[in-house]
Amino acid sequence: MRFEGKVAIVTGGGSGIGEVSAERFAAEGASVVIADWNEEAGRRVADRLNGAYGSGCAIAVRTDVSREEEARNIVERTLRAYGRLDILFNNAAVILPKPLAAIAAEEFDRVIAVNLKGVFLMTKHAAPELQRTRGAIVNMASLNGLVGQRQNPVYAASKGAIIAMSKSLALDFAASGVRVNCVCPAGVMTPLLEEWTLRQDDPAATVQALNDMHPLGRPASAEEVAQAVLYLASAESSFVTGVALPVDGGAMLGY
Ligand SMILES: NC(=O)c1ccc[n+]([C@@H]2O[C@H](COP(=O)([O-])OP(=O)(O)OC[C@H]3O[C@@H](n4cnc5c(N)ncnc54)[C@H](O)[C@@H]3O)[C@@H](O)[C@H]2O)c1
Repeated sequence: MRFEGKVAIVTGGGSGIGEVSAERFAAEGASVVIADWNEEAGRRVADRLNGAYGSGCAIAVRTDVSREEEARNIVERTLRAYGRLDILFNNAAVILPKPLAAIAAEEFDRVIAVNLKGVFLMTKHAAPELQRTRGAIVNMASLNGLVGQRQNPVYAASKGAIIAMSKSLALDFAASGVRVNCVCPAGVMTPLLEEWTLRQDDPAATVQALNDMHPLGRPASAEEVAQAVLYLASAESSFVTGVALPVDGGAMLGY
């Protein structure tokens, strides 16, 4: 039980990698706060965790991470419910799989507001308590934030910026004992990737291409990515900070 007595906020915890990570945190003893703008999804996950791992181990608070008052609110709600905060997993994001010419300025603003400003706002409001507990921040980036991706310039830019911000904050927070790391998956089979696949011209060919781009022959499962998230959030990684960890089945090698 790596997280006994610890408290974690998981943004975007109502689906996909966030949901599976929230479950793994609870399974290893943490109290978990699900911050998702999809209220029903967040509540469904919290209810399930309370049933499986002990009543009161999870709460869901409807949160749009791109809105400062909501980011401040979820940290306050966490402290009211559990009295401390040890782990911030910034995972919520939206996608924008389009070529540059087809992207409206408002779409650019929306992706940057959720994916990048959301990480900034959550970190800003969680940092004082994380510094008190000498906690850990795990930010969800992407392999495309390291190496780029066709037809995905703005989303990739948001992920590249998360990596740069994480490294900068790893420096700023090191003295207070707070570690900041990123996870960089390639493909992960979640509702988000399924949505992206269906939006492509030839979804069947896209699935094949997805398998082929990973030397291990398939995209990751959400569980495989969650394992990396939990490692970076746990004391097992106590000397790891400022890292952007590919969890990509070797995709970076032959990208
Ligand atoms: N699936 C992949 O292939 C893949 C690859 C690399 C990185 N990622 C990253 O992993 C993370 C999780 O992706 P996923 O595939 O599990 O997606 P998902 O769509 O299954 O889950 C994302 C969750 O975030 C929530 N969310 C979105 N905007 C929000 C906001 N403004 N405030 C609060 N919650 C919000 C959604 O409601 C949803 O529950 C994302 O950061 C994504 O960019 C995914």
